[in-house]
Amino acid sequence: MRIVQVSLGDRSYAIKVGGGLLPRLGAACAQLKLGQRCAVITDSNVGKYYAAVALKSLSAAGFEPVLITVPAGETSKRVALVEKCYDQLAAQRLERKSFIIALGGGVVGDLAGFVAATYLRGIPFVQVPTSLLAQVDSSVGGKTGVNLRAGKNLVGAFYQPKLVLCDLDTFKTLPEREFISGLAEVIKYGIIYDAKLFAQLERDLPKILKRDPKILAQIVARCCEIKADVVGQDETENGLRAILNFGHTIGHAIENSSGYGKYLHGEAISIGQVAAAKLSGKILGLSVNEVERIEKLFTRAGLPVQIKLNPSSRKKLFAAMLLDKKVSAGEVKFVLAKKIGQVVWGQKVSTALIEEVLAS
Ligand SMILES: NC(=O)c1ccc[n+]([C@@H]2O[C@H](COP(=O)([O-])OP(=O)(O)OC[C@H]3O[C@@H](n4cnc5c(N)ncnc54)[C@H](O)[C@@H]3O)[C@@H](O)[C@H]2O)c1
Ligand SMILES: [Zn+2]
Repeated sequence: MRIVQVSLGDRSYAIKVGGGLLPRLGAACAQLKLGQRCAVITDSNVGKYYAAVALKSLSAAGFEPVLITVPAGETSKRVALVEKCYDQLAAQRLERKSFIIALGGGVVGDLAGFVAATYLRGIPFVQVPTSLLAQVDSSVGGKTGVNLRAGKNLVGAFYQPKLVLCDLDTFKTLPEREFISGLAEVIKYGIIYDAKLFAQLERDLPKILKRDPKILAQIVARCCEIKADVVGQDETENGLRAILNFGHTIGHAIENSSGYGKYLHGEAISIGQVAAAKLSGKILGLSVNEVERIEKLFTRAGLPVQIKLNPSSRKKLFAAMLLDKKVSAGEVKFVLAKKIGQVVWGQKVSTALIEEVLAS
């Protein structure tokens, strides 16, 4: 097992990465000195495979767990589901020392984390991420929340978990498309922070695609380390944390304008990162060779790197981009790369240049 520490003063916590961790969930929670009652929040897909193991492990460690299952999918990240969870927590008499376990992908993590942040003004919670995206990204860093009709993640809280348990065995049931989508975030860490990681991904990609547990353990831990490092320096996104949004300005606009669900998040930010790399070439002089390496790695991973736009979809995409939270005073700000492993944020980019790059 690998342990990554997230250092945030009295809100610090450990991320444990390895195989066989879920059956030891109860023992891990016992070390946290929390109350006896707890609620496992999961979704209908993940619950089918892993709820029983989680509940058994918690009971064996002396806890009294209850199970709350929400429908799988992004639509569960909404206020109505938050209320349903509150009602069940109250009915089961969870109190201040009780805690919540988020067992699932990013949807469950964001929803359950927000429930934990707000029920009784906040009760402890533990993340047990089961998708690659959740293990390397959403479970770490304390952003929780739900969507509104007006947009994604518009209601939320910064709320750190007490522990993150990344059990790599859960990947055995993760659908291929979801796994590959998660790889887009893994590649992102290489581009924004760690040229060595990027080179390793180029080298080890065939083994990663076969989900080699040894390599995945190392890579998931390294991604968590990078995210922990960034979040440790800028918890509430006043500066540095913005680099995690590399490829996301265009990516979010693609997700948004194409109707959620057509592209998975990782697929959309793959296109976004390749576009951001091309913009980096034009604006910051990122070398042609590195732009090509970036595009090639996403392609080899099986991710899309381009989007076909007609006049109407182009219009929608740009409208969505200008609505993004990261836009200030109508200007689109980008995270751009100087070289692989080093990026800068807050780069103003004209819409004309973005159009040019997306058309190329
Ligand atoms: N909080 C953050 O910092 C942060 C960061 C990135 C993304 N997010 C959020 O995360 C969400 C996306 O997360 P996601 O990609 O994990 O989506 P998800 O939670 O919807 O999971 C994807 C699909 O895989 C299934 N699944 C998950 N783990 C499985 C497993 N081990 N076996 C079988 N099926 C499994 C789920 O049921 C779902 O159908 C978005 O809502 C996004 O906004 C949050
Ligand atoms: Zn992302």
